[in-house]
Amino acid sequence: ARAGKVRATMRGTIGELPVRTALRQTIVVPTFNERDNIVTLLARLTAALPADETEIVFVDDSTDDTPEVIAEAALSCPIPVTVHHREDGVGGLGGAVVEGMRLARGEWIVVMDADLQHPPEIVPTLIGAGARDGADLVVGSRYAGGGNRDGLSGGYRRLVSGGSTAVTKLIFRNSLLQVSDPMSGLFAIRTSSLEVEELRPLGYKILLELVVRNRPGRIVEVPYSFQPRHAGESKSSMAEGVRFMKHLGMLRFGTQRARMLMFGLIGVSGLLPNLIALWVLNDLAGVHYLPAAVLANQVAVGWNFTLTDTLLYRSRRAHRSFWGRISRFFLLGNVDLLLRIPLLALLVDGAHLGVLWASLITLVISFVARFLISDKVIYRA
Ligand code: GDD
Ligand code: MN
Repeated sequence: ARAGKVRATMRGTIGELPVRTALRQTIVVPTFNERDNIVTLLARLTAALPADETEIVFVDDSTDDTPEVIAEAALSCPIPVTVHHREDGVGGLGGAVVEGMRLARGEWIVVMDADLQHPPEIVPTLIGAGARDGADLVVGSRYAGGGNRDGLSGGYRRLVSGGSTAVTKLIFRNSLLQVSDPMSGLFAIRTSSLEVEELRPLGYKILLELVVRNRPGRIVEVPYSFQPRHAGESKSSMAEGVRFMKHLGMLRFGTQRARMLMFGLIGVSGLLPNLIALWVLNDLAGVHYLPAAVLANQVAVGWNFTLTDTLLYRSRRAHRSFWGRISRFFLLGNVDLLLRIPLLALLVDGAHLGVLWASLITLVISFVARFLISDKVIYRA
């Protein structure tokens, strides 16, 4: 059986790394079944970096013998190497990188893939640029002048990569002003500027997560040429694409204020199905307007539920069963309708407000109440 954590040093002892001072850089490498890339990666890193100022931290979620291969290769590597194997794989690639950041002790943390698509020789250039320009983050970019993505095989992958980069840049305009390649898996961050506890990694786009949530002060880019994979195959998949969508949503709508905005937009979008249902039932089918209005409200609540459940709270669905969520949502949507009428009467007859003002007030109260009950009760985190 594999040990939960394999640690090896250059002397081949199993134990903690020697305590060091002035460690310049920690190279964090996430690995998932990369056994045939390890030896070459370590050889090229060793050739490119001073062993006494560097450490390499692998965070591994492999199902093959990659951690053993790393531990073996570490014995003859002048740079101290540690392997941290995870059994749960939480957060996928991004989760692994954050785990590595927690373990890192260098002044700079450099994140790079194990498959040599990121040339190891670029590490000194990344850190040199960061130090020279007083930057907190240095992004290895395929899109900055001089960079390219020649190693991205196939028109389809290029299209997906280019398209998702453009959409992401649009959604996070302000955070990404200085970043041409937010999807890059190659970057260096100044450890003192890192706030690991702010990060909620989910899948591949850990750089995006870092830029949006940590808001590093100064960002510079270093162009590089994205190489073809050395050995083995890519782990990106359709499922990873879906996870990326979810990640974008979490990043964009993760705060309560942003969730409230989204909730409001969904509510407004529900007016259309409501009116269409009313028209069909009352005008076309001749149903009396009162039962028609009650039925049309169900259509709107169903519409809102579908969007809220899939777009807004997808990540919080696991806490309650489908029937538990939908029944509470419909209850809320109908109790709301029932309570608004006496409230309206109270405001108009009791407080002598005009009908329009009174309606507006009931709508605002109802909106805030429904949002809070959805956010704190039905979909509590
Ligand atoms: N620990 C861990 N857990 N590592 C993982 C996982 C995981 O679930 N999934 C992938 N990795 C590791 C791989 O072993 C590899 O070292 C690195 O993450 C990148 O995975 P690839 O499968 O090679 O991905 P890619 O080539 O399609 O995409 C990479 O390059 C893009 C361009 O730079 C990634 O780095 C993307 O984030 C990046 O946009
Ligand atoms: Mn790759």
